[in-house]
Amino acid sequence: MTTTETNKRDWVALEHKYYQGTFKRQPLTLVRGEGTRVWDSDGKVLLDFVAGIAVNVLGHCHPAIIKAVQEQVTQLVHVSNLYYNTRQIELAELLGIQSNGMRSFFSNSGAEANEGAIKLARKFGRMHKDGAFEIISMENSFHGRTLATTAATGQAYYQATWVPIPDGFKQVPFNNLAALKAATSEKTVAILLEAVQGEGGIWTANKEYIQGVRQWCDEQNLVMICDEVQAGMGRTGKFFSWENFDVVPDVVTMAKGLAGGVPIGAMLTGPRTDIFTAGDHGTTFGGNPIACAAGIATITTILEENLLENATKMGDYWHSKLEAFCEKYHFIDSPRGIGLMRAVNVQHDLAPTIVQQALEHGLLLNNLGTSTLRMIPPLNLKAEEIDEAAELLDRALTDVANMPIANA
Ligand SMILES: Cc1ncc(COP(=O)(O)O)c(C=O)c1O
Repeated sequence: MTTTETNKRDWVALEHKYYQGTFKRQPLTLVRGEGTRVWDSDGKVLLDFVAGIAVNVLGHCHPAIIKAVQEQVTQLVHVSNLYYNTRQIELAELLGIQSNGMRSFFSNSGAEANEGAIKLARKFGRMHKDGAFEIISMENSFHGRTLATTAATGQAYYQATWVPIPDGFKQVPFNNLAALKAATSEKTVAILLEAVQGEGGIWTANKEYIQGVRQWCDEQNLVMICDEVQAGMGRTGKFFSWENFDVVPDVVTMAKGLAGGVPIGAMLTGPRTDIFTAGDHGTTFGGNPIACAAGIATITTILEENLLENATKMGDYWHSKLEAFCEKYHFIDSPRGIGLMRAVNVQHDLAPTIVQQALEHGLLLNNLGTSTLRMIPPLNLKAEEIDEAAELLDRALTDVANMPIANA
């Protein structure tokens, strides 16, 4: 099909006819991307501050990822885990170097990575804690859409329809060490948390809190699991977000940006919890050569192009813009976040309206519910792109400021 023919089709109508109604999508069909920009099926170009929900860490179609995938696809696409594959081992080696020696297990998504961590924790409980199995996670957290990760996700909205959800999960308030300690019992085997809550609204842990969790896990012989699916891969200006807090968890889960847009997940563990043996866990596709080749290219590029430093610098610059907007517009406040993981609060349930207006002006943003606006752009974002995005956002916010509801 030619580009013109592609653009002539009514994609929204076709989606309604052939795709299940699981997604509340923006009225936009994307057909191409390059760097921080995407093009829709009508040829409109937009600046992308969503980046596939924190996935496209190198932007769209980065030459390093294109080259890695193109080369790999002509050599070896899939072999299963019955055999060794060089790309899988190379990616695990890179992650091992970044994590000071952790060993990897690759899956295909963040939820699957967390499933692996949950199973690992339960095995630890069986081996070392008299069968303890309960995992304490945080209110307002997000860990995935499988049944077990839904049970670990601390938001009633994600759980209500699926009751009975798997047993063995409990939630406590985030950033509250006393609550965590009070909830710990002889059944508890692990603490699961995001150092920066992503889907929950970009809330960063206090340093004393994270360090307190580490200490509590040591004292109680608990497994500390850090969900790095969204905050990992340099998004906070460190390769792993927990590096901001001078702690090292026992288990780390990753996905999203790990292969720059190619599906992958990973569960890493340090020596204390490195207890899986052959047959304990498995996957058909996880650690696939194409995904791993993309992962190698992504990590190598992040390191070679100093993108951790860039995420911090550009994150601070974007934050200064958000602060100015919060001064200028009365219906947004509380600019927050770390690195290129940013959000503001929005009054009067206007977050979706702002996203809509920004889209009209050519800027992709993301709302979390109706009162949080999130920005998670690529890590190689440039200052000029921030200036451009700020101009577009300013226009969108002016539109919204002129709506009666903003002044209600
Ligand atoms: C912190 C966190 N954990 C887990 C997940 C689930 O990842 P996936 O959608 O790849 O299963 C997400 C997705 O948004 C996430 O943000």
